[in-house]
Amino acid sequence: MKILVTGGAGFIGSAFVRMTAGGAHSIVNFDKLTYAGNLENLKPIEGLPRYTFVLGDICDAAAVEAVFAEHKPDAVVHFAAESHVDRSILSPEPVVATNFMGSFQMLEAAKRHGVARYTHVSTDEVYGSIDEPHDADETWPLVASSPYSSSKAGSDLLALSYFKTFKLPVVVTRASNNYGPYQFPEKLIPLMISNALDHQPLPIYGDGQQVRDWLYVDDHCRAILAVLTKGREGEVYNVGGSRALANLDVVKRILEITGKPESLMVTVKDRPGHDRRYAITSEKLERETGWRAEMDFEVGLKATVDWYRANREWVSHVKSGAYRAYYEQNYSNRLSAT
Ligand code: NAD
Ligand code: TYD
Repeated sequence: MKILVTGGAGFIGSAFVRMTAGGAHSIVNFDKLTYAGNLENLKPIEGLPRYTFVLGDICDAAAVEAVFAEHKPDAVVHFAAESHVDRSILSPEPVVATNFMGSFQMLEAAKRHGVARYTHVSTDEVYGSIDEPHDADETWPLVASSPYSSSKAGSDLLALSYFKTFKLPVVVTRASNNYGPYQFPEKLIPLMISNALDHQPLPIYGDGQQVRDWLYVDDHCRAILAVLTKGREGEVYNVGGSRALANLDVVKRILEITGKPESLMVTVKDRPGHDRRYAITSEKLERETGWRAEMDFEVGLKATVDWYRANREWVSHVKSGAYRAYYEQNYSNRLSAT
């Protein structure tokens, strides 16, 4: 099978490409290389004969058409997105453009070219905050809170509409918070690891009791492969890590593993519209494909810290330049909790 992957230079997309590129499938990776896209993430598979990188923007209809026309993919796995909630609050326009309109261009091209399978990578954030004791299944209403999650909810529904209306063979995955190597240090776990290793303050939004369900990135990639080959057309599949933890507990574990003091934690102003709790059940995915989350959180977190410790050069490259401007913009107005 020839798979067109979008966003394959980012965190999850590159894990998917590293997992699949040496195997039975040919992989074409279409990526704009935004601040979050990094060809260093693909060094381990560079030069493999059935792997091709194409630089391009999913919002650019002509570039999208060209990659479909030249490579004639059998399947699409659509990861490309502006993926960070805080950036979507500071600057929503590129988020809405890429997540909604870019996804639209991808669906249109896939329809024109009649691909055999289209996997749209969505998120559990489309369900919004979920009160205890509930866990959302795939029928839960979409109540997204941020420009990020609402633009993802829009593209998720758009993808499903291309199945209903045009019979494009779409499947949608809604995964929980991912962690693992190569994650850009703007999200909770890599930011806290990187700051702890540098003995810098660890900014905790609000009371730190918000709950996320942590999924190791390779478990997510295996779920996408399972859905790609075994998922039913027009269906949605939740992908959870079955490991719900409050942010404060996650950060304390990182401090333990890195051997740094809890005094590094600083309470800062909360995120506007902050979702309190994400919680999903992956029972449908497990029942229909046999997939299970395999990575134990303690083992995965330790492996992730070890990776960041061993890859200080990767971290310093991604933290140079524009990262500093973002960090200043996002955290300077949060200095006090009041
Ligand atoms: P990321 O920010 O690390 O990577 C995004 C990639 O998309 C980058 O390589 C970037 O260059 C590329 N990209 C961005 N805009 C583009 C455009 N206009 N055209 C082409 N390429 C573009 O993101 P990630 O964390 O790897 O997330 C990948 C997907 O998984 C996203 O759709 C995200 O919504 C979804 N998701 C992420 C998580 C998570 O915890 N990170 C959880 C569930 C779902
Ligand atoms: P994040 O990694 O941005 O993912 P999500 O898309 O789930 O918001 O944040 C995870 C949680 O960590 C979320 O509740 C916000 C919180 N958080 C902090 O407390 N401090 C930080 O510096 C960041 C980036 C996140």
